[in-house]
Amino acid sequence: MKKRIFNTKELTAQALAEELYSKITRAAGQFNIAVSGGSTPALMFSILADLSDDKLSWENIHFFWVDERSVPPGDDQSNYKMTSRTLLSRISIPEGNIHRVRGEGDAETEAIRYSEEIRKFVPLNNSIPVFDVILLGMGDDGHTASIFPDQIDLFYSQNICEAAVHPQSGQKRVTLTGKVLNKGKSVYFLVCGKSKTEVLTNVFDNKGNYPALLVDNAPGELIYYLDSEAAGSLK
Ligand code: 6PG
Repeated sequence: MKKRIFNTKELTAQALAEELYSKITRAAGQFNIAVSGGSTPALMFSILADLSDDKLSWENIHFFWVDERSVPPGDDQSNYKMTSRTLLSRISIPEGNIHRVRGEGDAETEAIRYSEEIRKFVPLNNSIPVFDVILLGMGDDGHTASIFPDQIDLFYSQNICEAAVHPQSGQKRVTLTGKVLNKGKSVYFLVCGKSKTEVLTNVFDNKGNYPALLVDNAPGELIYYLDSEAAGSLK
């Protein structure tokens, strides 16, 4: 596991956008990215769209979501909507390469359907889909994807996707499970802001019942992209 720490949120987002740009331009054949939502990735997606040029073909790049809220795609809480607004609407990518979770549907039913869609497009290793890149965030409570501390058992599910429930709002979610998050070729956490300092320190001190702590992605690549506010005294 590596940590890349930058002075500001903007520099952190820029560094991760450049890493993704580099991986995408070097991709040979289909390249599958699973992205998270929330507020942090938006800036990084915008920067990646800015970087997008003729050298970067999106023909073979497929987007999936690590998790999605059970809302219609046009809802402001939709992770798909955020990714479309900041990136997908600004690049030339075939419609068939965008595999959104159907948040408008019943979460339990969609978890099954989405698992099948992933199986169809993403290479499997011992029946576990292997994404080229998985982009994760971390909540103040140490959740990642939509696996929350009070539902940490979802991390160990044998299924590719599960239905989850946000502990405060009760909002239904669809989420990838731990066996997928720990099977990526490259897994990147993007964590910024003062509100993440405490949880991040605890995660790195191996303390607490945090789903994010369970992501080790061994033997794959795991890199934390952090701004100095989130990193606090971490080196
Ligand atoms: C979601 C995300 C979630 C997110 C964290 C951090 O659907 O909310 O996938 O896992 O990464 O909640 O969110 P922020 O970037 O908004 O802090």
